[in-house]
Amino acid sequence: MLRLLIVDDEEAARYGMRRALSTFGYNVSEADSAEAARALVKQQEPDLMLLDVNLPGMGGLDFLRELKDSNGNGPLVIIITAHGSERMAVEAVKAGAYDYLSKPFELDDLRLVIKNAAETIQLRRENLSLRKRIEVESSQRGALIGNSEGMQRVRAMIEKVAETDATVLVRGESGTGKELVAREIHERNSARHNGAFVAVNCAALPSELIESELFGHERGAFTGAAARRLGKFEQANGGTLFLDEIGDMSANVQAKLLRALEERRIERLGGNESIPVDVRIVSATHRPLEQEIAAGNFRADLFYRLRVVTIEIPPLRERREDIPLLAETFARAAAERYELPQRSIGQGALRRLLEYSWPGNVRELKNTLDRAVIMAEADELAARDLPPEISAGFPAPTDTADNDDGGLKVPFTADFREDRREFERRYITRCLEHTQGNVTRAAEILGMHRQSLQHKLRQLGLGRRYVSVSQEPQDDSDS
Ligand SMILES: Nc1ncnc2c1ncn2[C@@H]1O[C@H](COP(=O)(O)OP(=O)(O)OP(=O)(O)O)[C@@H](O)[C@H]1O
Ligand SMILES: [Mg+2]
Repeated sequence: MLRLLIVDDEEAARYGMRRALSTFGYNVSEADSAEAARALVKQQEPDLMLLDVNLPGMGGLDFLRELKDSNGNGPLVIIITAHGSERMAVEAVKAGAYDYLSKPFELDDLRLVIKNAAETIQLRRENLSLRKRIEVESSQRGALIGNSEGMQRVRAMIEKVAETDATVLVRGESGTGKELVAREIHERNSARHNGAFVAVNCAALPSELIESELFGHERGAFTGAAARRLGKFEQANGGTLFLDEIGDMSANVQAKLLRALEERRIERLGGNESIPVDVRIVSATHRPLEQEIAAGNFRADLFYRLRVVTIEIPPLRERREDIPLLAETFARAAAERYELPQRSIGQGALRRLLEYSWPGNVRELKNTLDRAVIMAEADELAARDLPPEISAGFPAPTDTADNDDGGLKVPFTADFREDRREFERRYITRCLEHTQGNVTRAAEILGMHRQSLQHKLRQLGLGRRYVSVSQEPQDDSDS
């Protein structure tokens, strides 16, 4: 609903206008001075203001100028001038008024001016929400983020291959952004980006299906093939075909794919027509294909065809400097997507994000921030909003052979106080091992003040081991 504010010192004038507008069903407020209006503008954020120039105290024109230079998002203003003061009206429009009316005016004129303004406001709103949506979408689809050396190299490679039709193999651990890179290559090729970007996940389909998926089939090619179906190769004609998880293809499909790449032609299943296709192939894998070749699971000749150019995306833990920007972007996008308040990332949380090893790479980081934005209880994301394996701040015990319980087995002698003491001793020792004895760092990780940790260390009988006098000058101040 449109919010309208009438600013006029004459009660009768306000009454007249309010009555004339009552049929519109707007939400109307009134003020008898610029000063009173100023407060209402803050409180109610009206969309539209009817502003009389002649006001006691601050004049209407000055108030208009104040409104217009504080920000560009204020209400539309319709200025109301005294009879015969056209010059004033011109001034007002120059100062940013949307329109003007001269007293006395017909109520129909008022309605007309308001109706026009309302349409403008509606358009503005639509534009704004559209722009917001575009921003969110583009930040989600988002071009590659990150300025680390590794990402700069990836970007430079994309730039180089994009214009060509070279076949590209994208490699990287799971969640490093292989598909994003493939899309980017497509988008940046001016000749192809009007064509389709067609993605096929080779791991998701059984091998009998993948063949018809890639090459299509004629009607009656097999039981259930009721109509002709175009395969992904034909769908991608003129564009880019992205073959994801290429390491998971059966030998049969590998052979057919190789032929398609060599001849640039395909045959639909059950057909004998050889159809020319113009596609650029980008493929991706997280598997070590060399090993698959050695093991006889992947054709070497196909491998060489696919990796004319190889783009290797480094894992996130090898480009930690990208983490802050990625995290911020994901937090912003998550807040937009779930319509939650924007959250900044607090120092504590950021430190944990920077320390964590990110086995799931960028995807894991993105999911982590989605979750954190949803869980957050304050304006700033804190370490406690992160999942435990990240907020713990030092490697959780894993079940690898050399680290069976990480020394963290819960002690049990049925004496609660003693067991707790022992557990704290192990827990803190483990943290200090991680920081190589650095008490200040350990205190940060544990979320304690350094002095408190020192105190604790002494209580637990670990003081002599970790609290050295030179490193910790205020040693005895708080015990
Ligand atoms: N550099 C980056 N900048 C912005 N977003 C990124 C970046 N890298 C990855 N992402 C985002 O992380 C998510 C995972 O990326 P993507 O699907 O491309 O990874 P992948 O390598 O194909 O993973 P998988 O091997 O599991 O298929 C996507 O939401 C993607 O938009
Ligand atoms: Mg992928």
